[in-house]
Amino acid sequence: MKIKVIVFLLITHFTSIYNVLVNKTPLNIDTLKIEYLTNPIGMDVLKPRFSWVLEAEGRNRYQTAYRILVSSSQEKLNQNEGDIWDSGKITSSDTNQVEYGGVSLRSHTTYYWKVKVWDESNTESSWSETAHWSMGLLKFSNWKGLFISHDVGYDKTDKYDSLYLPPARYLRKSFTPKKKIKKAIAYTTALGLYELRLNGNKVGDDYFAPGWTDYNKRLYYQTYDITEHINEGENVIGAIIADGWYAGYIGYGLLVRLDKVREYYGVNPSFMGQIHLEYEDGSIEIIPTDTTWKSSQGAICEADILMGETYDATMENTGWDSPNYDDKSWETPKVYTYPNGKLQVHPGNLVKNTERIRPIKITEPKPGTYVFDMGKNIAGIAELKVKGLKGTKITLRFGEILKRDGNILTENLRLARATDTYILKGDGEEVWQPKFTYHGFQYIELTGFPGKPTLDAITGLVLSSIQTDASTFSSSNEMNNKLYENIKTTQEANFFDIPTDCPQRDERLGWLGDAQTFMRSASLNADVASFMSKFLIDVDDAQRWYGAYPNFAPFPYSRPNQYAPAWMDAGIIIPYNMYKVYNDTRILEYMYVGMEKFMEFQADASTDFLRPGGGNNWGDWLSVNETTSHDFIGASYYGYDAKLMAEVAEALGKTADAEKYKTLFQNIKTAFAKKYIQENGHTSEDTQTTYALALYFDLFPEHLAKKGASRLAEKIENNGFKFSSGFLGTKHVMLALSKYGYYDIAYKLFKQTEYPSWGYSVVNGSTSIWERWNSYTKDELSNSDINSKMNSFSHYAFGSVAEWMFINAVGIDTEDSGYRNIIIKPAISKEMNFIKGSYKSINGTISSAWNWGKNHLNMDIEVPTNTSAKVYIPTSEVSKIKESNMPLNKNPDIKVLQSEEEFTILKVGSGKYAFKIKT
Ligand code: BGC
Repeated sequence: MKIKVIVFLLITHFTSIYNVLVNKTPLNIDTLKIEYLTNPIGMDVLKPRFSWVLEAEGRNRYQTAYRILVSSSQEKLNQNEGDIWDSGKITSSDTNQVEYGGVSLRSHTTYYWKVKVWDESNTESSWSETAHWSMGLLKFSNWKGLFISHDVGYDKTDKYDSLYLPPARYLRKSFTPKKKIKKAIAYTTALGLYELRLNGNKVGDDYFAPGWTDYNKRLYYQTYDITEHINEGENVIGAIIADGWYAGYIGYGLLVRLDKVREYYGVNPSFMGQIHLEYEDGSIEIIPTDTTWKSSQGAICEADILMGETYDATMENTGWDSPNYDDKSWETPKVYTYPNGKLQVHPGNLVKNTERIRPIKITEPKPGTYVFDMGKNIAGIAELKVKGLKGTKITLRFGEILKRDGNILTENLRLARATDTYILKGDGEEVWQPKFTYHGFQYIELTGFPGKPTLDAITGLVLSSIQTDASTFSSSNEMNNKLYENIKTTQEANFFDIPTDCPQRDERLGWLGDAQTFMRSASLNADVASFMSKFLIDVDDAQRWYGAYPNFAPFPYSRPNQYAPAWMDAGIIIPYNMYKVYNDTRILEYMYVGMEKFMEFQADASTDFLRPGGGNNWGDWLSVNETTSHDFIGASYYGYDAKLMAEVAEALGKTADAEKYKTLFQNIKTAFAKKYIQENGHTSEDTQTTYALALYFDLFPEHLAKKGASRLAEKIENNGFKFSSGFLGTKHVMLALSKYGYYDIAYKLFKQTEYPSWGYSVVNGSTSIWERWNSYTKDELSNSDINSKMNSFSHYAFGSVAEWMFINAVGIDTEDSGYRNIIIKPAISKEMNFIKGSYKSINGTISSAWNWGKNHLNMDIEVPTNTSAKVYIPTSEVSKIKESNMPLNKNPDIKVLQSEEEFTILKVGSGKYAFKIKT
């Protein structure tokens, strides 16, 4: 006994000495970003926001002050000369959303910055590494280029029954620098899509530039540093341009025979830009797009996002984008007028090739028809490698699944032709990938291939605007681990400049219902701060004049009344989550006027605080066996909006507005309860979704909420632990069950493999999230909706369970905004042996893991530097809890806040904690 005490004392003694020593280590500064980006070039935010992430050994480590230096050169910054901005020592714990406060930033200028911080004992850190950014062209007068293109004529009369697919346009300009170059920057854009070329190579690694916007309101340009690629003597800059979203086919326009089926923004794609050559003597020469450029057609004969690309290599103008090319046969480009939209820097993330994948199998379902299995359902393109005779024509078609006979299923692509064609030039090995189309696929069908192809004939290029590297998740249930992978794969496939509903059929639109329901999940899988900031500009641009947000954004169609409850509410739910996750109040300010207008629209549409269904209502889209009324959905989302608006107004310091929305919420809640909630705690419609929405949105009267939750649990149990809910209800069923402590039931749903459930898709071999609960079954193709034309296998909406997986199963949430005050409250249940996960928040990586030991429960957590957490331990007996094998009352790092019925709530500072709870 005595020995035990001595050992214990020694351990505690050494731990505290260790901590004292360790606490002396200054804070380490990492992940420097500006406007959510790492060293961006070309930016037009005049007061950009800085962020950094702190790391430190030990516990309770935090920042008490910072100092930022911004210099006009690396040399000045090295000498600690902040000639642009020296913030001085600012007493603050902020490490993000820190606004630039120096002199006015200038066009076409690079800035260098670094930061140092002081910790809890006022110990100064060393300077961070240097980061930098550069400004784009901030004034209209900076622009010298003309919008130019090649005239390919126009010969389309039939709108609906044959496709019109004009060829790509090629532009080139030869130039010779007059002196030694110090820096060369290209500022470029297009109405349409473009690829910039310099001396035979692609410039940058972007795809689908300049991105999709309402081109009547804004057009984004790109900035490329091309210094390294400029040669002495002749250089050639070139551009290939195609219709893209500007002039090509978009969405279901052709399918439903809208008045316009393409050319929603304009008819002729055109390119504009300029190169700034900065010579060593400080002089600048600008090479703008103008009529001294040359234009022509080339090998890309067809290029359309939905329909595919045709490349005739026999028509290549070999060397057209390199020096020493004879362009005598090329024409003078046609000049187009400037668009009405503002020229701006793309605030989000352009599409990139995030992964190259090798096929895993080739089959030959028909002689000469080869099907490549890429192993997972992605969005992207195929790179073809082939050797053969000149004029050989290879056709590539794409599908997400195979029919029984082994051929690809294409019915669900509807009118997206999704076909690429390559015609060989016949001079040895030819490697080709399309530039202006993409497909949603797991399988590629190849016909016309000379001989029998081997696996290396095809490489899959995953295209996405994001990388799903913000979180990790693993559990004792393998199916759920696969589900997590599938959610990420599907998010990557659909975060494609905008959050699309699906990447394969003739749709690929920024449907707002899907986006709002998935927003929080999206932020947990990937850093979507700038991606969603960009999308919110699209949402704001698309708002109807009368206040409703439309069904999708951008909204190119001129159709009236295109709005629906739970879809239009994205205009409030997404900005709210940007604030919650990234502590971003600037986006709230940007959206606020529109959000208020939307609330007025809803007030106007309501009778006695109840908003009816209205618009072209989709209800609880794709629910099964139960239908929730459109009016219920309209009314509940209106209540949720009011609740969120009160928080948004508060965050913006608009106290009177916050009060206004709090009152509105109470009024809605009262009216809602009167109409929809009965005294026995049942909803009048008694569907899973009605309980889920009303409970999660706090619309149940307080005295009936527990009864409502118990009825939801009972209904789920009666339904064999399966869903009857659709896009709107499903994630809220999980969130509502956990909110009221029904953890076991939530896990039974989570682990379910019978239809309808997530597990059903996983056990049926899915690598992605399906649009429908029953999109496909392995054994019973005929009983499924497999041939439905409305059946996508890459639809993230049902993947919105990721929100519950992190907030509840792993148990990581934010109490305030931006994860400064963290909540660790895992839903611990015997239904799982263990769950562990981590999330890279804007304030650092948070992790939480729990598992069952023999007579105890283990909870291991990590709280990032400069944050603190409330930890919910599932016992009311403090004496049962140990941390690092020490009772809590011996542990100075841990404060017991409260010990109640089910939980003991602890407050901890940064650091790692290992809890052991006696069971
Ligand atoms: C889309 C959905 C969307 C829905 C509206 C569909 O065509 O694919 O995801 O939300 O329309 O009901």
